[in-house]
Amino acid sequence: MSDLFGNKIAGTVLATGLVLLGLNTVGGALFKTEKPEKPGYFVEVTSHSSDVDTGPVWEPPTDYGVLLANADVAKGEKKVGACTSCHTFEQGGATKQGPNLYDVVMRDKGGVSGFSYSEAMAGAGGKWNYADLDTYLADPKAFIPGNAMNYAGLRKEDDRMNVIAYLHTLSANPAPLPEPLPAEAFIPPADEAAEGDADAHGDDHATDAAATDHADATADTSEDHASLDTTATDAPAEDVADVATAQDISIEVGDVSLSGAADGVESKLVAFINSDKEPCTDAECWYTFDRLTFNTGSSDLDMGYSQPQLDNIKVIMDAYPDITLKLGGYTDNTGELEGNMALSQARADAVKAALVAMGVGEDRLFTEGYGPEHPVASNDTEEGRAQNRRIDVRVRSR
Ligand code: HEC
Repeated sequence: MSDLFGNKIAGTVLATGLVLLGLNTVGGALFKTEKPEKPGYFVEVTSHSSDVDTGPVWEPPTDYGVLLANADVAKGEKKVGACTSCHTFEQGGATKQGPNLYDVVMRDKGGVSGFSYSEAMAGAGGKWNYADLDTYLADPKAFIPGNAMNYAGLRKEDDRMNVIAYLHTLSANPAPLPEPLPAEAFIPPADEAAEGDADAHGDDHATDAAATDHADATADTSEDHASLDTTATDAPAEDVADVATAQDISIEVGDVSLSGAADGVESKLVAFINSDKEPCTDAECWYTFDRLTFNTGSSDLDMGYSQPQLDNIKVIMDAYPDITLKLGGYTDNTGELEGNMALSQARADAVKAALVAMGVGEDRLFTEGYGPEHPVASNDTEEGRAQNRRIDVRVRSR
């Protein structure tokens, strides 16, 4: 009953939202209402699937010269606290599970003599240049499959740059920092789709490594959500009955069963928990809340609409008392970065607060605001931006 009621409210608010949307040509990031037209958020199937059809979009190269010049060494030193269970950083420091990392910048990969590297690392080849460190630290297993560093990676570019800038200082004779790229590097190849494609997939052009990584992650996410799109189009926006039907799949959670969408956040979470997959920070391990909305421009949850999904999350957390979850907040790329970072954090915190108020242990929920990072759709269309304004969740530990 509360479900249907919620949908009706959502329908009404949605209609208002759509009118506002029509009027709102300048509001950009200020217009933050996140009423999905139908469950799943993915209201614009055409633009979404055309993303997939046209292949990766050209992305400018990562300018390590600029990024590292602006990085914060002190923050990097703090961040490597996460590495100290396996690595030492001082000159002549002990070997732990991983090799000593003094002077690692521009060192040969697998280059500490006496450390027994995995075959994958020993055979990786080349030096730890800035781009390779960046790509490795973002997702160690993806960059060197089979390597033995059992660490999920640093998802935020800022964190990676701070860490690399810190590593760079750990040398009697630090390697030169890269030069900022020339302006020409940022001019997209003129009308050369084929070349853009080749670039985005290029595997050994070092400076492109991060862009490649990013393009791939975006593509993965789109694929991941492809089937959801199809489901979503089938339901006309106004048709509340269809919306209700879309939630009608019953998901077994221990000995309780709850209703959700086949591709909704509940199904994905439960499937993950029941699998033997390790928690990970890759795009494929994050699931988007499909029935969660906030009041426009604020971090106030619209509980009339959001309560049923939050109830479901509570049921799941009760059924699996060992899991902890990470909630990520995201915005589109319009508006001020600072405001977007704050809003996305506040929204992730609001979801946590609502769940804690419902009795979920505070220490089981972690939050982070990523602002416009990690878009799942193009920010060039309103539909894409609406998809990017979201709350995601992943299993953090089990
Ligand atoms: C759970 C343990 C663990 C954690 C945590 C960890 N590492 Fe590692 N790291 C390893 C192991 C083991 C290797 C060797 C990998 C191999 O041989 O395949 C390694 C290798 C590396 C290398 C390559 C070194 C070389 O000599 O080729 C770098 C660089 C590195 N780690 C950086 C980091 C940073 C920076 C962090 C923290 C942000 C971190 N690691 C966190 C275990 C860890």
